[in-house]
Amino acid sequence: MTSVSTAITLISRSEVGQAASAGTCSPNLAREPWAFDASPMPEYGPGASMHDVAPAATPRQGELPKEYRTASAEDLDRRILNAKEVLGDSVVILGHFYQRDEVVKYADFVGDSYQLARAATERSAAEAIIFCGVHFMAETADMLSTPQQAVILPNLAAGCSMADMADIDSVLECWDQLSDIFGSEPDAAGRQPVIPVTYMNSSAALKGFCGEHGGIVCTSSNAAAVLAWAFERGQRVLFFPDQHLGRNTAKAMGVPLEQMPLWNPRKAWGGTDEQTLRDSRVILWHGFCSVHKRFTVAQIEKARMEFPDVRVIVHPECPMPVVDAADEAGSTDYIRKAIEAAEPGSTFAVGTEITMVNRLAAQHPEHTIFCLDPVICPCSTMYRIHPGYLAWVLEGLLDGRVLNRITVPHSVADPARVALNRMLSVRP
Ligand code: 13P
Ligand code: SF4
Repeated sequence: MTSVSTAITLISRSEVGQAASAGTCSPNLAREPWAFDASPMPEYGPGASMHDVAPAATPRQGELPKEYRTASAEDLDRRILNAKEVLGDSVVILGHFYQRDEVVKYADFVGDSYQLARAATERSAAEAIIFCGVHFMAETADMLSTPQQAVILPNLAAGCSMADMADIDSVLECWDQLSDIFGSEPDAAGRQPVIPVTYMNSSAALKGFCGEHGGIVCTSSNAAAVLAWAFERGQRVLFFPDQHLGRNTAKAMGVPLEQMPLWNPRKAWGGTDEQTLRDSRVILWHGFCSVHKRFTVAQIEKARMEFPDVRVIVHPECPMPVVDAADEAGSTDYIRKAIEAAEPGSTFAVGTEITMVNRLAAQHPEHTIFCLDPVICPCSTMYRIHPGYLAWVLEGLLDGRVLNRITVPHSVADPARVALNRMLSVRP
């Protein structure tokens, strides 16, 4: 069974090479992500999100010093381990499941975005939290850690193309239009006209907006519980930025599709109309993840043809038909746990980021594990973090310099913390 898994992984890798030559994901992203930092325009870099336009406000990374760009893997390894040892408990490294193996191996804790948010609240002894993930996760860690702690993102260009699909100005414009229709008075049951719910994959400004308007944050591991919280307090929900997580979750809770209009911020009235909005239960922002939108029902059918016993597990950022055709959907940690708990000899087709799927396949030789999409690219923004950047920020700390600190201003962090704490108090 293991050999099948390995073969699929190898096919996947060679086809990633083909995709690279076709100009989608580039092996340079793995070897030299700093080559993209020098770009005059903000960009997500080669990979699944390269066709999404990076807004001008997307954080940019300055040039990584040459000594880190030219160091060998062995040299970086030695320097990282040495810095970690000298810094001891004063520094903690958190890593998301999608981080490359060369980075994950240095992490003190690896988890999904909910677990990482919690981890940031629980590491108060560390003076610095080095966050190997993406920008919105580091912002969240800054808001949930103590003011004395510094949160560091090794590469500032590690953003999230989905998070960038909803900006505060467009959300405020949408909110004004919804307020024109619904006003701000609660109904007889005390429910507000609209409760804003933001996916964790969003800027701190949007979390702050939710905090100020009776709203809340969710992640893929608690979205149903958070929506239930919101429905208790509101007649409808405005869910941003990920339409797929919103739709998949609300549909599983029994909300009919006709009551989930899409709000496209580039169209007048979001591309919908007043009556549809009045009838709505969940207004879905027109955002998506370029990595997860690549998964298709045809891939699931092919996997089932080849492996009749296959268990198909996908992330809820996948489009609804894919989630419907899968056996299960859940957060990155849900996927990890499902595989860990399975009987040896199980076969899994997984619909999530390839780095994590390849790691699970390597960690579980007792199973056959493969990615549903054989030509997928890694999440290019997660991939921006390379051991070179990690060595740079760690050695900066050794020299007493805090590099790439993520600081959310109080005016944003205070209301955002309200929305985050509401989420943390909801039982998933
Ligand atoms: P998780 O919350 O499942 O870790 O997902 C975060 C993410 O960005 C998935 O694309
Ligand atoms: Fe963002 Fe998608 Fe990457 Fe997750 S996988 S960080 S949603 S671009």
